[in-house]
Amino acid sequence: MSKAFGLPLKLLGRKGETGYCNVQLGPEGLAGVYKLGEVPSGPLAASSSSESQYDEIMTDAWHRDSTQISCVVMLSDTSTMDGGETAIRIGDGSILKARGAKMGGAVLIQGAHLTHAALRATNAPERISMVTSFAFADTRLDDSGTSLRSVNLDHPNIAGWQNHFLLHKLRRLQENVNNAIAQVEADDAAHESPKRDEVEPWVEEQITLLKQTSWELFERYPNYLYKDIPENVVRDYLSHVWVIGTGIPTGERAWIDVVIGDIVLTRR
Ligand SMILES: [Fe+2]
Repeated sequence: MSKAFGLPLKLLGRKGETGYCNVQLGPEGLAGVYKLGEVPSGPLAASSSSESQYDEIMTDAWHRDSTQISCVVMLSDTSTMDGGETAIRIGDGSILKARGAKMGGAVLIQGAHLTHAALRATNAPERISMVTSFAFADTRLDDSGTSLRSVNLDHPNIAGWQNHFLLHKLRRLQENVNNAIAQVEADDAAHESPKRDEVEPWVEEQITLLKQTSWELFERYPNYLYKDIPENVVRDYLSHVWVIGTGIPTGERAWIDVVIGDIVLTRR
């Protein structure tokens, strides 16, 4: 998987999302899904499919994924399929249509930041794809797309989703701290001082990671499920932490983003 993507990946493996299937409804609707067997249905003759009340409906509406990277494996015979592409809205606002994989093949998509939709496939007896989610193995790479956005409110174990999410983020933080400690020890052995242009961006990244984690746990769920995050909301979240007993002149308000070692103040 990592070789195909070009960077080391690791399975996200959160509850309910170790792997799931998307099934496109056909003329028989939901009842037809239960008639599908283990073996993929054979291809249709050219342009022989019957019309369906679902033909005008996108298989998957415009969205961004709640995981950083997804692997979409096609389980159906696509040899006579029309449509079924993944539509991607690119930076200039135009739409790019990317053709999906053939049966047994897969597409890796970094869908957390690209708005995309699955277009409906026609002239195929079925369209079933299986999705598995991944994160970058290198914890210094972006993980802001991994969120609780798509939690199913009817899921019997919401706490399991929340705890898995929190552990996933804390382990990334732990690895980042371990890497930073190793770097500091190496610099110390070489009698080198900490470098501002390295330490400050690192601190900001960890603050962002922590803020996103807590926002997802207590604001996303349950107030912003299935929605895009408003602009700058994570950046501004928890910006009001007030430092008490730091010798700040009376009446002067001081605020910090986070305390690591010596307190770093941001005054307003
Ligand atoms: Fe998606």
